Amino acid sequence: MADGNLSALQAARNEAYSTPLEQIDVSLGERFQTNTMWPFFERLRHEAPVHYCANSEFGPFWSITRYHDIVAVETNHAVFSSAAGVSIVEQAEDFTLPMFIAMDPPKHDAQRKVIAPIVMPHNLQNLEPIIRERAGKILDDLPIGETFDWVDRVSVELTTQMLATLFDFPFDERRKLTYWSDLTVTETEGMTEQEVRAELMNCAFYFQNLWNQRKDGPPANDLISMLAHGESTRDMPLMEFLGNILLLIVGGNDTTRNSISGGLLALNQYPDEYAKVRADPSLITNMVPEIIRWQTPVAHMRRTATEDIEFGGKTIRKGDKVIMWYVSGNRDETAIENPDAFILGRERPRQHLSFGFGIHRCVGNRLAEMQLRVVWEEILKRFPFIEVVDEPVRLKSSFLRAYRQMNVRIPARAQDAP
Ligand code: HEM
Repeated sequence: MADGNLSALQAARNEAYSTPLEQIDVSLGERFQTNTMWPFFERLRHEAPVHYCANSEFGPFWSITRYHDIVAVETNHAVFSSAAGVSIVEQAEDFTLPMFIAMDPPKHDAQRKVIAPIVMPHNLQNLEPIIRERAGKILDDLPIGETFDWVDRVSVELTTQMLATLFDFPFDERRKLTYWSDLTVTETEGMTEQEVRAELMNCAFYFQNLWNQRKDGPPANDLISMLAHGESTRDMPLMEFLGNILLLIVGGNDTTRNSISGGLLALNQYPDEYAKVRADPSLITNMVPEIIRWQTPVAHMRRTATEDIEFGGKTIRKGDKVIMWYVSGNRDETAIENPDAFILGRERPRQHLSFGFGIHRCVGNRLAEMQLRVVWEEILKRFPFIEVVDEPVRLKSSFLRAYRQMNVRIPARAQDAP
């Protein structure tokens, strides 16, 4: 395995291959936090690619770990439904947030159609110079020769600025977006459920205010205006409005953020690849999807069976929870050559599962790729090398493969930096 702490990985490998198969539980957040989940997935792919875990913190669930099986589940959305939620964590019954990622056709399709234009080629072209300018400013302010946290100074700041742009959100208040996003998926430590809900309702009211201003104005190219004018979204009840807003905040935030951090880590772990892209920045176009595959920021999506079905030699029962582990599918050697390695110049770098597959395939995928391309173009213009100085701090979650902190040092600016 190419990444992670080697002795911890060896211990995990021993454990993965000595634990009885039926007792393996790949949903443990601790293993993602220590980056030691890989051998468990490897064993499941080889020995039990459709695997039942009877007991876990999240109840019983099926794991789908091979690339082509994940594609098969994603494309059979009549049997594998999104309506009961898309994460292994159950939603609270008294605080459900409908959002189109957790809907089936036809409602899913109608709502997705409303916001899809935000990522049309002409819109991406309009966004690119803004993102480039903002990325440049953030990078120009970075200290030279000092250790600092790349996650906060670069990854979070850049993605937050982009989100504020997409929503046409008050720019000075943009860290509210980061806060609500973190609150939705990860950072609720020390808060009661009531406190979290109250904060999320503040988010709803804040956006409702913006919505009210935009719905009476002419249709514009920001996400709030699109939802406010869209035929299938303009009359959403408050909770559905909040759900879809949170989907767009989270969808565009954690994912791109962790790809920016993960890319830097990958280049540090593969110095030859770093040297290649430094010598030939045109490789960035090929590097971006490889970063997204290697990082796999969304580790899994969940479906729920709507009827009994034979799948991979097993009987999945109606109502069973089915977890598609993208993080494993992206390391499946029967679909991707030498999948553990970070390689620039793969023939088909966009062949990966990090954006999912089928009708829910990430609507923001081209936007995310463009953003990462621009960021790396601007980084390489300015800094020949950025060193990750110690092991990053990872999030304890089997849903998001995320970094909370990554200490880096920039030894010097490029001689011809802009
Ligand atoms: C590297 C960055 C990103 C990754 C890895 C990522 C990953 C994903 C994944 C795994 C899904 C679910 C796919 C499935 O169920 O088949 C998804 C859906 C979605 N993503 Fe992204 N995403 C990224 C960036 C973005 C951005 C920038 C946006 C922008 C606004 C966005 C908005 C969405 C939305 C709205 C959905 C729901 C689509 C649907 O249900 O039809 N994502 N994304």
